[in-house]
Amino acid sequence: HYIGIDVGTSGTKTLLIEAGGRVVAEADANYPLHQPQPGWTEQDPEDWWRATVKTVRAVMKASGLKPEAVKAIGLSGQMHGSVFLDKDQNVIRHALLWNDQRTAAECDEITSSAGGRKALIKMVANPALTGFQAPKILWLRNNEKRNFDRLRTVLLPKDEIRRRLTGELVTEVSDASGTLLLDVVKRQWSKKLLSKLDLDPGLLPAVVESDEVTGTLTPAVAKQLGLSTDCKVVGGAGDCAAGAVGNGVVKKGVLSTSIGTSGVMFVHSDEPQYDAAGRLHTFCHAVNGKWHMMGVNLTSGGSLQWWVESVLQGLAGLSGKKTYAAATAEAEKIAAGSNGLLFLPYLNGERTPHADPNARGAFVGLNLTHDRGAMTRSVMEGITFALRDSLDIIQSLDVPVGEIRASGGGSRNPFWRQMQADVFGKKITTLTVEQGPAFGVALLAAVGDGAYKDIQSACNATIEVASQTTPDKDAVKRYDKLFPIYRRLYQDLAESMG
Ligand code: XUL
Repeated sequence: HYIGIDVGTSGTKTLLIEAGGRVVAEADANYPLHQPQPGWTEQDPEDWWRATVKTVRAVMKASGLKPEAVKAIGLSGQMHGSVFLDKDQNVIRHALLWNDQRTAAECDEITSSAGGRKALIKMVANPALTGFQAPKILWLRNNEKRNFDRLRTVLLPKDEIRRRLTGELVTEVSDASGTLLLDVVKRQWSKKLLSKLDLDPGLLPAVVESDEVTGTLTPAVAKQLGLSTDCKVVGGAGDCAAGAVGNGVVKKGVLSTSIGTSGVMFVHSDEPQYDAAGRLHTFCHAVNGKWHMMGVNLTSGGSLQWWVESVLQGLAGLSGKKTYAAATAEAEKIAAGSNGLLFLPYLNGERTPHADPNARGAFVGLNLTHDRGAMTRSVMEGITFALRDSLDIIQSLDVPVGEIRASGGGSRNPFWRQMQADVFGKKITTLTVEQGPAFGVALLAAVGDGAYKDIQSACNATIEVASQTTPDKDAVKRYDKLFPIYRRLYQDLAESMG
């Protein structure tokens, strides 16, 4: 048996699977997100650890398995965050997260220290973006000098959990790509950029491939979790690459979309490939020796969450999950295009394609006929248009696009799947059981333990496509007409943002 742990933004999800892929038990635990200032997002790493202990104990209890039955654990998590540790490995302050927007000045500093944007992309395959880890380290140096002076180690969120599990300071290539300090082509830290930024390479953990074993559980932790000290912990992956593995996106031609808090359009690549304008991220894949490109929307499902929970909740006399079901049912009654109402989902800045921390959301084109259903539909359409922005860039790079595999909350609703097929003009597939990043890293654990020869074989043996949604011609036409109008709005409104 294998365990996959995904340290997400809203909570941690843990899965226990058999080597053949069947899910034996699963558990979730949530924790708060702190926003000390607008645009700042932070979490307490101790909350992640508590959720890890709680969910691992829960799956072990539910399965009734003996400790020795679990051979390996894979770790996944929200990418880019910064866990700052002192010389005794104590956490110095709350971690800054992937959607934190405070580091615009540090991004400029990195670009100019690197000798310009082009030179930077040559070193680390990506431009400096506010959410990435490197600008967070510089932010600490520029703004909290006393904390920076105590700093000895910086870890990504899931690698902090690895430290607690095994005592080892290790990351793996997919998540390390999102620090902006990895030479993504060579799959090792960029000594060149580190020296240009005057950062000590000793701050960073060792880097391995995603299916490599990084250690075993410490005796105290094994006891606390109900596992054995022989239980291995493999590299794992950042949640985007882990989710792609969990969806079988481990070869050319299949793309995946994921609508969670963030929105991700992800494509596998056998070679490192770049968008010269730096709008897409080029990262190492969790597939040994391969890469991927992806576009990321910061407030994707997060926009629908804002709309339903901050605006509709209570109004409709509903609460909790029922509000989502009622709201999307109303939206489904409205025709494609929301009767001319457009929505920009940039509620907390945007990454792809604008790379603008000051981007803001908007409803545009409101008239007296628009009601709640039209507004909900336009929010969902805006989120889907934002993903199409990434798809268009991927296609402009001559990447072959066969099917698109949908995952995350946005794939569970057949109405939203149809909307994705219509907005992208492509066939959408989903899996029989979609388990996301935690499943992907449980498979990587199985590979690391030797149950499969590589991650492609593990995916072939365990993943089955269930539903297919084909685009509706009329809706495709409607969306093709609206998309360029949506696309221009950001430029037109930029002055009113920030
Ligand atoms: C990816 C990204 C987000 C987080 C969400 O670049 O920032 O998808 O990983 O957990």
